[in-house]
Amino acid sequence: MAKTMGFFSYILFVFVYGSPFVQSRSLPKSSKTTVLDVTASIQKTHTVLSFNPEAYTQELHNQQEQSSSPSNSLTLKLHSRASIHKPSHGDYKSLTLARLERDSARVRSLITRLDLAANGITQSDLKPVDNGNGFQFGAEELQGPIISGTSQGSGEYFSRIGIGKPPSQVYMVLDTGSDVNWVQCAPCADCYQQADPIFEPSASSSYTPLTCETQKCKSLDTSECRNNTCLYEVSYGDGSYTVGDFVTETITLGSAAVNNVAIGCGHNNEGLFVGAAGLLGLGGGSLSFPSQLNASSFSYCLVDRDSDSTSTLEFDSPIPPNGITAPLHRNRELDTFYYLGLTGMSVGGESLPIPESVFQMEASGNGGVIIDSGTAVTRLQTDTYNTLRDAFVKGTTGLTSVDSVALFDTCYNLSSKSSVVVPTVSFHFPEGKELPLPAKNYLVPVDSDGTFCFAFAPTTSALSIIGNVQQQGTRVGFDFSNSLVGFSPNNC
Ligand SMILES: *[C@@H]1O[C@H](CO)[C@@H](O)[C@H](O)[C@H]1NC(C)=O
Ligand SMILES: *[C@@H]1O[C@H](CO)[C@@H](O)[C@H](O)[C@H]1NC(C)=O
Ligand SMILES: *[C@@H]1O[C@H](CO)[C@@H](O)[C@H](O)[C@H]1NC(C)=O
Repeated sequence: MAKTMGFFSYILFVFVYGSPFVQSRSLPKSSKTTVLDVTASIQKTHTVLSFNPEAYTQELHNQQEQSSSPSNSLTLKLHSRASIHKPSHGDYKSLTLARLERDSARVRSLITRLDLAANGITQSDLKPVDNGNGFQFGAEELQGPIISGTSQGSGEYFSRIGIGKPPSQVYMVLDTGSDVNWVQCAPCADCYQQADPIFEPSASSSYTPLTCETQKCKSLDTSECRNNTCLYEVSYGDGSYTVGDFVTETITLGSAAVNNVAIGCGHNNEGLFVGAAGLLGLGGGSLSFPSQLNASSFSYCLVDRDSDSTSTLEFDSPIPPNGITAPLHRNRELDTFYYLGLTGMSVGGESLPIPESVFQMEASGNGGVIIDSGTAVTRLQTDTYNTLRDAFVKGTTGLTSVDSVALFDTCYNLSSKSSVVVPTVSFHFPEGKELPLPAKNYLVPVDSDGTFCFAFAPTTSALSIIGNVQQQGTRVGFDFSNSLVGFSPNNC
């Protein structure tokens, strides 16, 4: 049975986003150095721990989630994890360590997913079994290391979305790393606790089970046919999973209703999705929400993970003319992930000696660089990471180094500084395009005492992942018509 809402509390309010000093200053292209506002970053570590959820609960539930947009695109408000789930950590250091542990689980699950696909194993090879106690699929033993979803939690960004007719408004995790949309559904064989009431199919006039021969049912990686209705199963490799009926429903974003969206009605769900009712899959596969909308593009701007500000997720929102663009590639073996045509990186205006092949997908479908909203820290192949880190260290000899913190091996004591000048770190794309990162997107506080770490990490996998720390404050757009990923700094 559904557990009742306990210690979770939810908030939302509009916050003046970002640090005025760094934000209002637009850096010239190829600038060799950039300024980190140390004081502002430390200030935010206090703010995130002192959010007062109760005061804003009412406001949140009354808020119109669709905001007006100049382009008439379908737009949703997007909230950070911290803004809807008050961190239960007493200090910023333990919050950081919990985030990094969650992040490692996320990265493991993405890599496992790709390994299985590149080696020709899909989840459909993992046959479901019925344990006589509701739904149970036998997929998990092949998923590599399992970390309890209950202790890890899943999901970093959320939106409020209406399910059914009339719409029930619920929180959904937004995930660019998966495709299948789902909500927890009554009757629950096993549901984790969520903030909103559990979705009740019998109260919705638009609830329609899918039959087994439908294309949507056949598009599932893992499905089963029972009494000619389609059952689905998704497991996220971090111990989280959902199993139930695959149906079509009306999904409402603000005042816009989309009919006949295939979603999972999950009767057996595990994993602490931070109290969200379900998940909206934003991946590239045919069952994802953008694919089902036939969206020609979508974009999001990830608000600062330490702020309770909101930003937007927009569908059919073209990349603005001043956006920095990179090729968007797809993987024949796995259509979920969005691959970025990265050609190089630079530190302090100097290109790093990294062979371009390091960033390219192999013929097997392994390797390449994906961009993901749910991964926090960008992962690079070990040699590439070492080259990047060494160049950054060389450019920061004036700063006091301190011991490593979790997966960060390059940390500084900036407690006596109000701001520091550091080498600019940039991503480079074909045609000479460059995306210089704001300093706060790669030098991040790990406690409230002035310890900052260089926020990249090595991976032994061939797959590189551009994470959300590096994307914050930048609108990231996926243009399917032109196969481009666009970055628009300071356009949230
Ligand atoms: C199978 O479907 C039929 C017709 O919809 C229904 O009457 C029957 O109860 C179902 N059986 C099971 C086991 O769900
Ligand atoms: C998307 O396109 C498919 C196939 O053309 C169509 O059946 C479906 O209704 C479209 N969906 C929307 C939301 O326009
Ligand atoms: C950082 O430096 C300050 C003095 O500038 C010192 O008091 C503090 O203990 C140092 N912190 C760490 C973690 O080394």
